[in-house]
Amino acid sequence: MNILRRGRLQVAPDEDIMRFTSSMEADKRIFDADIQVDKAHVVMLKEQDIIKENECCAILSGLDRIQKEGISALDTSYEDVHIALEARLIEMVGEDTGGRMHSGRSRNDEVATCIRLTLRTELLFLMEEAKDLVGTLIKTAGKHHETIMPGYTHTQHAQPTTLSHNLLAHANAILRDIERIKAAYKNTNQNPLGAAAFASTGFPINRKKTTELLGFDSAIENSMDAVSTRDFMIESISCFSNMMTNLGRMAEELILWSSSEFGFIELDDSYSSTSSIMPQKKNPDIAELMRAKAGTVNGALVSVLTICKALPYSYNRDLQEATPHLWRALDTVRASVRMARGMIGTMSVKKNAMITATNTGFMTATELADVIVRTTGIPFRTAHHIVGAIAKTGLTPTLSMLDELSSEIIHEKLSDRGLTEKAIRDALDPVDNVRKRKVMGGPSPLETKRQIAVINKKMIIIEKDIGLFNKKINEASDKLAKACKKCA
Ligand code: ARG
Repeated sequence: MNILRRGRLQVAPDEDIMRFTSSMEADKRIFDADIQVDKAHVVMLKEQDIIKENECCAILSGLDRIQKEGISALDTSYEDVHIALEARLIEMVGEDTGGRMHSGRSRNDEVATCIRLTLRTELLFLMEEAKDLVGTLIKTAGKHHETIMPGYTHTQHAQPTTLSHNLLAHANAILRDIERIKAAYKNTNQNPLGAAAFASTGFPINRKKTTELLGFDSAIENSMDAVSTRDFMIESISCFSNMMTNLGRMAEELILWSSSEFGFIELDDSYSSTSSIMPQKKNPDIAELMRAKAGTVNGALVSVLTICKALPYSYNRDLQEATPHLWRALDTVRASVRMARGMIGTMSVKKNAMITATNTGFMTATELADVIVRTTGIPFRTAHHIVGAIAKTGLTPTLSMLDELSSEIIHEKLSDRGLTEKAIRDALDPVDNVRKRKVMGGPSPLETKRQIAVINKKMIIIEKDIGLFNKKINEASDKLAKACKKCA
C-alpha cells in the first residue's frame, strides 16, 4: 500500500489523475539534490538526538544505494520524487528506521530546498557560459578596432562606427546580465529547510546545521515565507528574459548582417541551414531560433508570475506547476548563450562591404555640422539646418554649395567665417569621424581598446565571484560527505 495515502485515503487515483498530478518527470532535475537534502537533514537529526546513530547510518547507506540505482528505479505510482524516494528507503531499510527520515520536515520545505540547490549550480554554469560569450565578443572586437561600419538608428544609416564598438555594446549588455544573475544567485542560495509544512516543527532541529551542510548563505528567517515563496525563481527567470532579449537583438543583427542587402558577415556553415528546394540558400536558422527563444523564456516568466499571482500563503500545489517553466527557461538561455558564442567566434567579417556601406547615406553629416560649428562659431542648430538642406539635394557637399546655402539661411558665407575645403574633406571621411570620437564610450580605436581593458577587469571580478561561490558549495559538500562517512 502507498505509504502516503494508506492512512487518510482509501481510493487510489487512476492513471489519468496520476499523470495530471505527478511531478516525477520534472523531478528528474532535483533527484540528486533531494538525496543531498535527505542526507543533510538526517545527519542533523542524529546530531540533535532526534534519531539514533545506527538509524542515521542505515538511512545514509540506503540513500547511497538509491542514488546509485537512479531515479528510474523509483516507483512512479508515487506523485513525486520525495515520497517515492522515501518509499524506496523504507523498502530497503524497513519502516522502523526509514520511516524516521521525514521527522521535522515536509515535502514543502524539501522541494523548495531541492529547487534552490539545483538552480544555484545551474546559475553558476550560466554565468560561466555568459562570461565565455563576453570573452569571445571582446576577442573579436579586439580584431576590429579599425573595421569601419555603418551605425544605425531606426535601421537607417546614421553615423560611422566600428565593428569593435558594436560588439562591445553587446558585451556590456551581457556583462550586466551576469551581474543580475549574480544577484539572483544570492537570493536563491537561502535555506528553506526546517520550515516543514510552513509552521516549522516542535522537534529540536538545527536549521543552522543544514544551512552549513548544504552550503547555503543563510536560513530563510520565516518558515511560512520559506515554503511559500518562488520569488527567487521569478527573479532568475526575469534575468533570463532580460538576457534573451539581449541575445535576441544580437541574433537579429547577425541575421541582418548576413543578408545579401548588408553582406557584412558570413556565418560559419555549422551555424547555418539550407533549403530543401532552393539549392543556393544559406540560412541563419540558429540565429533565428535564438531570436525566437526569447519568446519561450518570456512565456516561462509570465507563466510563473501568473501561477504565483494571488496565491494565498502558504504552500499550494500550484507551485509545482511553476517548476518546469524554470527548467525550460534555464535550458533555453544556457543553450542560446552557447550558440551566440559559437556564431560570433566563427563568423567571417567582410570588411570591404562594411566600409562600402559606410560611404552611402551621408553618414558624416553630423560631423560636417559639428565642424562648421567649430570653425565658424555659428550655433549647432543653424549648422544642422544648412547641412540638412545639403543632404536634401543628395549631392556631395562642397565649400561653394555650403556658402550658397548659408547665404540664403544666415546671409553670410561660411568661408568668410573660416570654413575651408580641407575641413569639409576631413569631416566627410568616415575614418576620421571615428578617430575623432574618442570621448569616453566612443568608437575611436583608442577608446574601444580602453573599453576592452575595463571589461577584462570586470571579468576578473566575475571569475573570482564564481570561484568563491563554487568553493563554498564544494566545501559544504565535503563537510556533508565527511559527516556521512562517520557511519561508513
Ligand atoms: N511535487 C511537489 C512540488 O513540486 C512537492 C511538494 C508537495 N507537497 C504537498 N504538500 N503536496 O511542489
